[in-house]
Amino acid sequence: MGVSKRIVVLPGDGIGPEVVEAAVSVLTAVAAKHRHQFTLEPGEIGGAAVRRSGTSLPQPTLEACHRADAVLLGAVGDPAYDNAPREQRPEYALLTLRKALGVFANLRPAKLWPALESAGPLKPERVAGTDLCFVRELTGGLYFGEPRSVDYGSGEAVNTLRYSRAEVVRVAEVAFSLARQRRCLVTSVDKANVLETSQLWRSVVGEVAVRYPGVRLEHVYVDACAMAIALDPRRFDVVLTENLFGDILSDEAGAVVGSLGLLPSASLGLGIGLYEPVHGSAPSLAGTDVANPIGAILSAAMMLRHSFGLMTEANDIEAAVGAVLDAGGRTRDLVANDTDSHLTCSAMAARIVAAVVAAARTA
Ligand code: NAD
Ligand code: IPM
Ligand code: MN
Repeated sequence: MGVSKRIVVLPGDGIGPEVVEAAVSVLTAVAAKHRHQFTLEPGEIGGAAVRRSGTSLPQPTLEACHRADAVLLGAVGDPAYDNAPREQRPEYALLTLRKALGVFANLRPAKLWPALESAGPLKPERVAGTDLCFVRELTGGLYFGEPRSVDYGSGEAVNTLRYSRAEVVRVAEVAFSLARQRRCLVTSVDKANVLETSQLWRSVVGEVAVRYPGVRLEHVYVDACAMAIALDPRRFDVVLTENLFGDILSDEAGAVVGSLGLLPSASLGLGIGLYEPVHGSAPSLAGTDVANPIGAILSAAMMLRHSFGLMTEANDIEAAVGAVLDAGGRTRDLVANDTDSHLTCSAMAARIVAAVVAAARTA
């Protein structure tokens, strides 16, 4: 017997609609294969929403998300609004949505697919076998701290970096639980040699670690971590860090695995999960059908696993992605020269759908 789930789908800006369409095509194929009923409810967010209704997170979108079983999002961000007041910026909508859903733990797995060992800029012998997962704190830190202001007249701006014990405990628990299902190592990343928030972070993470005796904990400064991710990414298992550091380091991991367009994410917390690729709206690629949809497709797989408990289905999608890459399928970001043969975004999605369907026939 299949399950019945309501998924709010927020394409957003730039390449968001293209990669979301790809992810939806894969979800639809999985639903047909396993007789699930996924009701997809589209909603507006970001610059696309500002254009239509004057606000980047319309009330109906927020209400639909609160009623959903899970939310799938493409990307937000539109150069037309880069200088708009904060409340009218597309990015503000995403931060408000994360806060409203209480998704304080952002899982960003970065695994190097065997077929892509030579696709990225780093030497294959250094990066082969990379399999790490960031657990990024997502609803606190500098992104949300008050007071905050900018005064162009006086030339002063303020942001506030604040963390409470409770905020650190809950995200650390997610990281340690995850490490227990993986290779039992948590690397906590901070700047405790300078920042008081990091000193609290380090101390609280140490307290939480005591409750997970099978998991080893190490502390690394963020600057050293940035270098180690490029030099020796295999040494990491679960990388636990605060909001801004996690934002920066996860993009770096995109280069390690071959492309930012490959990375998925799951934002988990109080109930409803939010699933989005790590990349942004890539305005220069928008509308050209060249974006890599794999990050969005793997985000849909994470939704099946984390929100719906559909492990087989999630594994099916990941296996289909692996099979297409093994067979040489590449989007433009994964080939050395633009003139090398490659697939469009929609063609890559079609290949992955075909691989899911083919697996269904042989199952
Ligand atoms: P970006 O992630 O959009 O792009 C960075 C680089 O990666 C660009 O060269 C882009 O072409 C490439 N890229 C990104 N996704 C790709 C994909 N799927 N396939 C192939 N190549 C891909 O970051 P940016 O250029 O710094 O930001 C653009 C806009 O996106 C900004 O408005 C920013 O605020 C927003 N943004 C949104 C999110 C989000 O919605 N979660 C994340 C990051 C940035
Ligand atoms: C991400 C993005 C967002 C963030 C922006 C668009 C608000 O860069 O999801 O990584 O900084 O969290
Ligand atoms: Mn980011």
